[in-house]
Amino acid sequence: MDARQGIGGTLTGVDIRAEIGRLRDERNAVILAHYYQTPDIQDIADFVGDSLDLSRKAAETDAEVIAFCGVKFMAEVAKILSPEKIVVLPDLAAGCSLEDSCPPDKFRAFREAHPDHIALTYINCSAAVKALSDIIVTSSSAEKILSQIPMHQKIIFAPDKHLGGYLARKTGRDMLLWPGVCIVHEAFSETELIKLKALHPGAPVLAHPECPAHILDHADHIGSTSSILAEAKASPAQTIIIATEPHIMHQMEKAVPEKTFIGAPGADGNCNCNICPYMALNTMEKLYVALRDLEPRIEIDEETRIAAKKSLDRMLAMASASVGMGDLGAARVTGD
Ligand code: 13P
Ligand code: SF4
Repeated sequence: MDARQGIGGTLTGVDIRAEIGRLRDERNAVILAHYYQTPDIQDIADFVGDSLDLSRKAAETDAEVIAFCGVKFMAEVAKILSPEKIVVLPDLAAGCSLEDSCPPDKFRAFREAHPDHIALTYINCSAAVKALSDIIVTSSSAEKILSQIPMHQKIIFAPDKHLGGYLARKTGRDMLLWPGVCIVHEAFSETELIKLKALHPGAPVLAHPECPAHILDHADHIGSTSSILAEAKASPAQTIIIATEPHIMHQMEKAVPEKTFIGAPGADGNCNCNICPYMALNTMEKLYVALRDLEPRIEIDEETRIAAKKSLDRMLAMASASVGMGDLGAARVTGD
C-alpha cells in the first residue's frame, strides 16, 4: 500500500514513531511542539514550550528543517525568523480563532483610524497582521514589554480582548482592545468552576490570561502555559485545577505524578470542549508525512516577512532585556 493513502488515518505497516525518528535524522530536522499538542506528539518532539520559548528555539536552531507541531501562526513565526529553513506544519488548516478574528485589511483600517496609537499585537495573528504591528507580545512577555512603553503612549492591543483586558487591569494601562477571543478559553463555565472548587476546597486554580475575566476572578495564578506548568510543579497543593487547554496536563503528570490535576470544566461539566480543535488537527501520521514529503510548507512573501520580523525582533529584544522604545519612535502605521 502507498503510505500516502493513509494521510489523516492509520498508515498500515509503518512504524510511525520509528519513521519520524529516522526522517528527523535524515532531514536534519528539529521537531518543535506546543503544550496543547497530544501527548504522543509532545513526547516525540525535541522541544516543547510556550509561544515565546518556541519563537526563541525557531530563531536559534541550526537544523535545516523545522517540523512545527502547533498552529499556523506559530509555524509562520519560525519561517519569519528562519527564512532559509524549510518549515513544515503537519496540517495547514491548523489555524486559530484569534487569527481569524483579525483580518489584515480590517486591522489596517483600524490602525489608520487611530494614528496616534502604536499596535501591540498578540503573537496569535497572521504574518500580515504582524507586518502591520509595532511590537508583538506573547502571554509570557506582554507585561515586561508593556512596562518598557512610556505611560503616555496610546496603545491598540489586538486581537485578544481578554488578554488585553487582563493586562489593562493589571498594569493600569488604558488600551484600545480588538474584540477577538480564543474559543477554547472562552468555553470555560464560571458556574461549573465554582462547583468544582467547592468539591476540592483548597485546590488552587491556575489560569491562562486568554480566559475571560469572570474565570480569571477565580484564579490563584494567571500566566502563560509555561508559567502555569512551573506553578503546577512548585505549588505545595496536591490537587490543582487547570484553566487552559487540557493537553498541557501531560507535562504536569510527567513532572509531578503524585499530584492530581483537574481540567476546569465547560458548560457541560467536563473539560473536553476545551480541547483546541486547531491544534488537534496535527497527528503523528501527518507529522510523519510532513517529514517524509517536506510538505505542507510555510511560505511567506518577502515584503511581509521583513515587516513582520521587525515587530517580532522587538518582542525578542524587549522580552530578554531592558530595551526602551528604541527605534519605534512616534506612533505610525507600519508596513506601508
Ligand atoms: P502560550 O503558550 O504562549 O501561553 O500561548 C497559549 C496559546 O493559546 C497558544 O495558542
Ligand atoms: Fe488559538 Fe485558542 Fe487554539 Fe491557542 S488555544 S491556538 S488561542 S484557538
